[in-house]
Amino acid sequence: MDLTDKKLVRELIEIAAAQRQYSYAPYSGYRVGAALLAGDGQVYTGCNVENAAYSPTLCAERTAVGKAVSEGVREFEAICVVGGKEEVPTSYSAPCGVCRQVLREFCDPAAFRVILATDPEHYDIYTLQELLPQSFGPDNLSVP
Ligand code: THU
Repeated sequence: MDLTDKKLVRELIEIAAAQRQYSYAPYSGYRVGAALLAGDGQVYTGCNVENAAYSPTLCAERTAVGKAVSEGVREFEAICVVGGKEEVPTSYSAPCGVCRQVLREFCDPAAFRVILATDPEHYDIYTLQELLPQSFGPDNLSVP
């Protein structure tokens, strides 16, 4: 998968942005969509799912990871996240610390890309390593 391919990046942004329509965010009004690109090219989507008890709230990124892993997919290349209170977000919505750690479980942090976007023309791409340096992962427990 070639993320220097702007067409692919724009597609992921459009998919993540479209997922915001399914966001269940009655408490924060902050709607997040995610598009998780698997190693086989398949895209797994997610949105945030809030809860009246607050702490059970699921972030969009973890929704997407759970969907993929529950279908037997554990190899990922990148995730795109689009979120905000506005119809078209004006600033980036970066993965929270918990989501960064969950992504870390299933990828090589130096290779995995996190695409932060507001719309298909405005985005920046980071490695997970940049967002979660000196991370703790499966290798610490001698799990390859
Ligand atoms: N949220 C996400 O979906 N992803 C993140 O990484 C950060 C936060 C959601 C959770 C909650 O529904 C809303 O954004 C406000 O925190």
